[in-house]
Amino acid sequence: MRIVMIGSGYVGLVSGACLSEFGHDVVCIDNDASKIEGLKKGIIPIYEPGLDEVVAVNVKAGRLSFETSLKTAMAGAEAVFIAVGTPTRRGDGHADLSYVYAVAEEIAAHLTGYAVVVTKSTVPVGTNRKVQEIIRTARPDAEFDVASNPEFLREGSAIEDFRRPDRVVVGCDGERARAVMREVYRPLYLNETPILFTSCESSELVKYASNAFLAAKITFINEMANLCEKVGADVQDVARGMGLDGRIGSKFLHAGPGFGGSCFPKDTLALLRTAQDFGAPTKIIEAVVAVNDARKREMAEKIERAFGGVKGKTVAILGLTFKPNTDDMRDAPSLVIVPYLLEKGAVIRAFDPEGAKEAKRRLDIELCADAYDAMNGADGVVILTEWNEFRALDLARVKTLLKRPVMVDLRNIYRPGTMAAAGFSYVGVGRPSLG
Ligand SMILES: NC(=O)c1ccc[n+]([C@@H]2O[C@H](COP(=O)([O-])OP(=O)(O)OC[C@H]3O[C@@H](n4cnc5c(N)ncnc54)[C@H](O)[C@@H]3O)[C@@H](O)[C@H]2O)c1
Repeated sequence: MRIVMIGSGYVGLVSGACLSEFGHDVVCIDNDASKIEGLKKGIIPIYEPGLDEVVAVNVKAGRLSFETSLKTAMAGAEAVFIAVGTPTRRGDGHADLSYVYAVAEEIAAHLTGYAVVVTKSTVPVGTNRKVQEIIRTARPDAEFDVASNPEFLREGSAIEDFRRPDRVVVGCDGERARAVMREVYRPLYLNETPILFTSCESSELVKYASNAFLAAKITFINEMANLCEKVGADVQDVARGMGLDGRIGSKFLHAGPGFGGSCFPKDTLALLRTAQDFGAPTKIIEAVVAVNDARKREMAEKIERAFGGVKGKTVAILGLTFKPNTDDMRDAPSLVIVPYLLEKGAVIRAFDPEGAKEAKRRLDIELCADAYDAMNGADGVVILTEWNEFRALDLARVKTLLKRPVMVDLRNIYRPGTMAAAGFSYVGVGRPSLG
């Protein structure tokens, strides 16, 4: 099957590469010429574990290629995926659909035979119908169907998530489109991955409802963490006790500095705006958004308190990306916390294993060569992202590097008892502070 993937970012590139691994002929398109230039030379524009290998193997096998233009790529394509960004629209919180609609126009101009136009981007209810309308208006003669096929992969484990998803959701009308989508995901179908066929509207909503639910889970445990701190309970024990209940599950119950990233913040906001527009307000999600926004600032204040004020002090920050194993900094808590500390007069020395390039663009701080370099001469250290390499720091060495043995661990990767025994003044999230 010939597939075109438009948008070669975190989702498009991973999906395109993995679909080529399924055996399809895939052309990945991007209008960022430098990205495509690089990909043609084997340069992967993002950090995603394992992606370089999947790309290399499938390029070599002749199943995966890269182009800037749809013109030649579209000939004979049976499925054309839209995987461009849908960021928050400036000013009102709605999803900005301009990239999706621009691509729909382009697809219309280049449709040849029958194809299914599949929206993989996260888009609000009604978008697939609008895509259909745009193409139909531009090309009344064209033979096509639209399908909604939201993506659930997680950055950092995107390849595995695509190869072994919990489910595939497809919204479309009619057997012809369904047959094409079944063929696209045939290897997963054979693996007995549940493939759920719905209407476009339901499929669009599954994605937003899932993300909002997970965001609510995180926000719930963050509020429990605040309560734990007041009453002397340990949020990790509370989360474990809750998570063992099969109805609740243990995932997304890790207290921390608030959710960030390229999806949850923008998707919760877009969903609540859609719900307001349709007169069915989602009060829970409104609360989740407000609580999470406030939390990032509260975490900055927590750091300030732990340091006894930060004016004129040097704060070592470990981790800047919104989570480990990615270079993605979109809406990362660090983008609120670091500017707050700078504004309060702190000097920041930071290290992130993969985020430095992006951090340089977004933050005016000193980026160090490694974690120990960042801590050298600092008044204390803050763990913002739980990269594995921060889990086993040489605490004796850390103590010799820091002016004062202060650690604020916003990911709870150390044990308060161990840190107190090592002579640290240690502050975690939702746990008794010792030392
Ligand atoms: N990142 C994730 O973890 C994730 C997970 C699930 C769903 N999603 C959704 O997938 C969509 C894409 O997200 P992403 O993180 O991959 O975004 P991204 O910004 O990494 O990638 C989007 C790409 O589309 C390209 N593009 C924009 N307009 C184009 C056009 N007209 N023609 C060709 N290319 C064009 C951009 O240059 C960019 O490379 C979003 O709707 C997002 O919400 C993202």
